[in-house]
Amino acid sequence: MTKISILEQLKQADAEGYAIPHFNYSDIWDMTAIVRAAEEMHSPVMLAGVPKVTNALTMDTVAAMAHSLADNAKVPVYLHLDHSTDPQICKDACDHHFDTVMIDGSKESLERNIEMTADVVSYAHPRGIFVEGEIGKIKGNTEESQYANGDFLVQVPDAVKLVQSTGVDILAVGIGTAHGFYQGKPEINFQRLAEVNEALSIPLVLHGGSGINNQCILDGIVNGIAKINVGTEIRQTYERTLGETNDVEKARAAVYTRTCEIIRSF
Ligand code: 13P
Repeated sequence: MTKISILEQLKQADAEGYAIPHFNYSDIWDMTAIVRAAEEMHSPVMLAGVPKVTNALTMDTVAAMAHSLADNAKVPVYLHLDHSTDPQICKDACDHHFDTVMIDGSKESLERNIEMTADVVSYAHPRGIFVEGEIGKIKGNTEESQYANGDFLVQVPDAVKLVQSTGVDILAVGIGTAHGFYQGKPEINFQRLAEVNEALSIPLVLHGGSGINNQCILDGIVNGIAKINVGTEIRQTYERTLGETNDVEKARAAVYTRTCEIIRSF
């Protein structure tokens, strides 16, 4: 199968009005369910590991599993490192031939965020690997990150400065979405998203995709979102079904079914 780059996939999604699905896995069982679901839906997919998982299983193991699935899949499967606050882990993922790595300097000052992002870009780009950065903050409290304060909203000049000074390829933006399930209705600032999209020409990412409704998905896509990240729904579907049935095949089947539904909505 010929495979275009993930950046081309994202640009195509942006132009044609859909979002590339990104799913966070915990191990080989949900990872295989995600790939099978993408095949069923004829959709490209990003397999995303957070450092907690890549460190625990080791980058070698995670990369071997994901590359094997990607090499044999009937759809384009891309390996992504999610929410690394450590440039060194990003470089390790680059050495394991991931397609994209995320350096999350969003909790740092803008200057430090730029420094960290530029460091990862300078390592990744010569190796043909794309980099996702973050500006503004994603709220919530999960494996991906913890953040609860009020100043989450992306400032347009900061986003422009981060992109222009680093050459980062893809950008996660703080617009009110949160990691984990939402308490009540999510309050997403689509106006600010539209302003960032107007100021930049790179694909934007919506984090905190678990539990957002179809209208939010559509409003996000219309205003520049080219990738939507889903983690909690995968993890909870897997853990809940495993707890209820004590049968890992049933847990895998439940993740597969839910992943198909999510992909359809994107
Ligand atoms: P959720 O866990 O809320 O789906 O968010 C996942 C995410 O944004 C990973 O980067």
